[in-house]
Amino acid sequence: MRSEVRQKKTTNTNLLPMKNFDTTTQTVPMEVVTTSKANQFYDDVIAGLKSDPKQLNSKYFYDANGDKLFQDLMNCDEYYPTNCELEIFSEKTADICNAIIGEGDAFDLIELGAGDATKSAYLLQYLLDNQADFTYLPIDISDNVISYLNITLPVTLPGLQITGLNGEYFDMLEKAASISNNRKVVLFLGSNIGNMPADVAADFCRELRNHLSSGDMMLIGFDLKKNPKTVLAAYNDKGGITKRFNLNLLERINRELNADFNISQFDHYPIYDPETGACKSYLVSLADQQVKIGGETIHFAKDEYIYMEISQKFTVAQTDEMAVSAGFKPVNQFFDGKKWFTDVIWVAE
Ligand code: AVJ
Repeated sequence: MRSEVRQKKTTNTNLLPMKNFDTTTQTVPMEVVTTSKANQFYDDVIAGLKSDPKQLNSKYFYDANGDKLFQDLMNCDEYYPTNCELEIFSEKTADICNAIIGEGDAFDLIELGAGDATKSAYLLQYLLDNQADFTYLPIDISDNVISYLNITLPVTLPGLQITGLNGEYFDMLEKAASISNNRKVVLFLGSNIGNMPADVAADFCRELRNHLSSGDMMLIGFDLKKNPKTVLAAYNDKGGITKRFNLNLLERINRELNADFNISQFDHYPIYDPETGACKSYLVSLADQQVKIGGETIHFAKDEYIYMEISQKFTVAQTDEMAVSAGFKPVNQFFDGKKWFTDVIWVAE
């Protein structure tokens, strides 16, 4: 079983497609914790589109369609981060897991933004094979993802104890802490941390530290600075998946918030700045147009943009500084063969 997992290089082939994963016809065997978010979504969208410059929060990319598009992205040629991290997890499984297991006392393995959990599955399989005493608590903003994990993981990873938490990271971290007193190991993979500008990411790590106790651990994936053309291509794939991924948020607003975005009147514009390491994406309005959202009307000038997402790239030195300034000690660093990506282990001081 373990060798089977290890040999797999490509993503998702053993998993069900996530699109429109229908939970109504299935029994959910595990606990699902959900919070109500519809009004928050509306308020954030309206506030973002009324601000100058206009912006939308990329955390809203991940509805059932967005999850599916992100899975497609992870499988496209240009999007390298997933393959780099999969390489690290498949080749350094024992080293990473032994660091996590430590003295062998029971722990909660909490994953922020678990997605389809393809990468963490390598770690989960190894931990199960080695009788580690742990519960897996995936946290995700997508209720689609959490239902999917609660149903599929106990089948693909027999013996796994899992409690999926659907909601915002810190709300769900608090929920996790209220469920158990075990030491915590927090996974924050895939360079999800890059969805925050560097200063916000630093604050986020400090807040994470405040939710943890001395000796708790973080395993964080950072996408590293590299040839600018390689980075830009990953966010400007020839197949246009990234473009559809961005436009899907407008479609989601149409679907869920009773809006009338004309998707064909917006174009995707990605940029990468090698100096700051910021990779950003925008949707540019191709016409002077009005969009109705619920009771609101938003005006777009021709060529006006909506700032959609940042995917920050880091240096190794920056990750160490971030650890120390947040109250963690960086204890381990793993790289893929090209050194395009790193997974680091930090221990809370
Ligand atoms: C899931 C946030 C890590 O920023 O690279 C992929 C999302 N956006 N292509 C990233 C994404 C455009 C991805 N993360």
